[in-house]
Amino acid sequence: MTIDSKNVVNLDLKKNEKVLNFSDFQKQNLKFDIAKLQEAYMQIIQTKKFDDGGGISHFGAICLTRKPGDPDSVKGQKARGIYWTKPDKSGKEVSRDINIDEAEYSEFIPDYDNTYFKEVFDTLSSKYKLGRVRILLKEPRSTLSWHRDPEPRLHIPIITNPGCLMVIDNVAKHMPADGSVWITNNTKYHNAFNGGEENRIHLVACVLDYKF
Ligand SMILES: [Fe+2]
Repeated sequence: MTIDSKNVVNLDLKKNEKVLNFSDFQKQNLKFDIAKLQEAYMQIIQTKKFDDGGGISHFGAICLTRKPGDPDSVKGQKARGIYWTKPDKSGKEVSRDINIDEAEYSEFIPDYDNTYFKEVFDTLSSKYKLGRVRILLKEPRSTLSWHRDPEPRLHIPIITNPGCLMVIDNVAKHMPADGSVWITNNTKYHNAFNGGEENRIHLVACVLDYKF
């Protein structure tokens, strides 16, 4: 059988575009203890429930930081925050949710002081200017919207499976749960999906002083 060249998609790549470019996924020179991360996660879900961000399916968040002394600052839509998406065939961009002043989320919630997340938070905040720090749940066989965020995000995968990928622009990457720390360029259009049969759990922090 011969392949009809009319049926072959011509990607029309320029010479320097023929190799996928993973520069929107930057592994940091920093590593945490994955067993301790998983133990700390098990510890907090004994008493805390994931917030669905105001009714978003297959998504959950537990905030680890808040506005000082303000428990309401981590509830509902504030567990999500503003993003931009292209929801329909027009391709027109719209904004969703509410604007959040990330810099105000400076207090590590004292309920978690006796977990490994406190040590992780102290180390991270000595190296980066952080906004909200959250434990994010992505349920099995689910995806986010195609969207962009106001700032880059720091990821520490805690529980994952090979079917969990993040897609930025046209490049997809799996981030393993081995204690590694990644900063991803969420200011570009992106998505994350969990094609496995187990929850995906990441620690995700907004990073306010990281330039791509
Ligand atoms: Fe995002």
